[in-house]
Amino acid sequence: MAAAKCRVVVLISGSGTNLQSLIDQAAVDGADYEVCAVVSNKADAFGLVRAREAGINTAQIDHREFADRRAFDRALMQEIDRHTPELVVLAGFMRILSADFVQHYRGRLLNIHPSLLPRYPGLHTHQRALASGDREHGATVHFVTEELDGGPCIVQAALPINTGDTAEILAERVQAQEHVIYPLAVCWFAQGRLRMVGDSAQLDGEPLPRSGKRLGGGQSLNY
Ligand code: GAR
Repeated sequence: MAAAKCRVVVLISGSGTNLQSLIDQAAVDGADYEVCAVVSNKADAFGLVRAREAGINTAQIDHREFADRRAFDRALMQEIDRHTPELVVLAGFMRILSADFVQHYRGRLLNIHPSLLPRYPGLHTHQRALASGDREHGATVHFVTEELDGGPCIVQAALPINTGDTAEILAERVQAQEHVIYPLAVCWFAQGRLRMVGDSAQLDGEPLPRSGKRLGGGQSLNY
């Protein structure tokens, strides 16, 4: 009998291209995880359509209907926990989470961020990388802690900034890399290879560098 797959709940707010990459990888033969539910804080998030098309449970919880962040997060936790996930994945979920939420899922909560963390936590990362005259940029998957975009890094994809790049061009190139590294990190977790130990991320029992494993320049992927 096949081993049970790692149950993953994905939280979104928007178009869900990262969600799609996770759904696509889960459909590959022998995948070690399944996306068992997708939850959005926005009713019109296109990611909800992607999830329904893939036959995945969806829920929408509007943060504006709650008195404060903690009340919204409590409702969110209730919905997530109905699906008994081993892993919760933030994929373009544009809400800051309360300390209670982060602690509840500590060590099993991942985020993807469009910069080479620790550079540019927060918003407008592509504009900020251009304005600083950086020569490279990218995306990072990390464990979520209470520090905004500050948890232990797992994997980064780096790409060069070319002359003439705009924020829009960079966003597109970075997203293409996100669609590679997010499924990779989720596969590592599902295979039991990736763990958060104290305040650091470990892959195969070895601590990862502070900025995570670095991919760039077309390395082959080891799922
Ligand atoms: C992604 O580029 C992700 O890195 C970013 O939102 C986008 C969602 O796109 N996340 C953040 O900025 C979180 N701080 P998607 O909905 O198409 O996956």
